[in-house]
Amino acid sequence: MQLKWSHVFVYVQNLEAMLDFYTRVLGFRVTDRGEVNGNELVFMSQVETDHHQIAFAPTRKDMARSNNVAHFAFRVANLDDVKALHATLANDERVQRLSPVAHGNAWSIYFNDPEGNNIEVFCDTPFHVSQPVGGTWNPNSSNEDIRAQNEAEHRDAPGFAPIEEFYAAHAQALRQQEATEA
Ligand SMILES: [Fe+2]
Repeated sequence: MQLKWSHVFVYVQNLEAMLDFYTRVLGFRVTDRGEVNGNELVFMSQVETDHHQIAFAPTRKDMARSNNVAHFAFRVANLDDVKALHATLANDERVQRLSPVAHGNAWSIYFNDPEGNNIEVFCDTPFHVSQPVGGTWNPNSSNEDIRAQNEAEHRDAPGFAPIEEFYAAHAQALRQQEATEA
């Protein structure tokens, strides 16, 4: 398998000031914004291939320490890769807090590295599901059952669509943004 860099999720203190800088200065497009478990999350991307490259949650308290990275995330090719890594990590005593999370648009596992950094490894599902979503999935289930569960849970949600449709619309919005700025 190959671990590909995907996105970073950062705790911030002043969400609106940070969003203003990242969208107006750095050129990110907000792709989703919402609340999960009482926390606001904002997702941003400026590439056609990723729902988010950066996500923010306004929960940063200590400005004296630069220790505000929620997790680093890596994409793998398919569900078998995620399951294989989960099995490997489950047997590694250096790895803490291993847990599978179902985002609707991704099957993820989260875990702490040996120094306590939180890492996410995921593969895409065939669908766009409006974020944030944090459900669960069972790495010991068959791929067929995992896919069926994902579709059943999100089929009726607003915004649910084949992932190709989401990325086509996202690409078009990016092109429009580029044209407006030109
Ligand atoms: Fe993530």
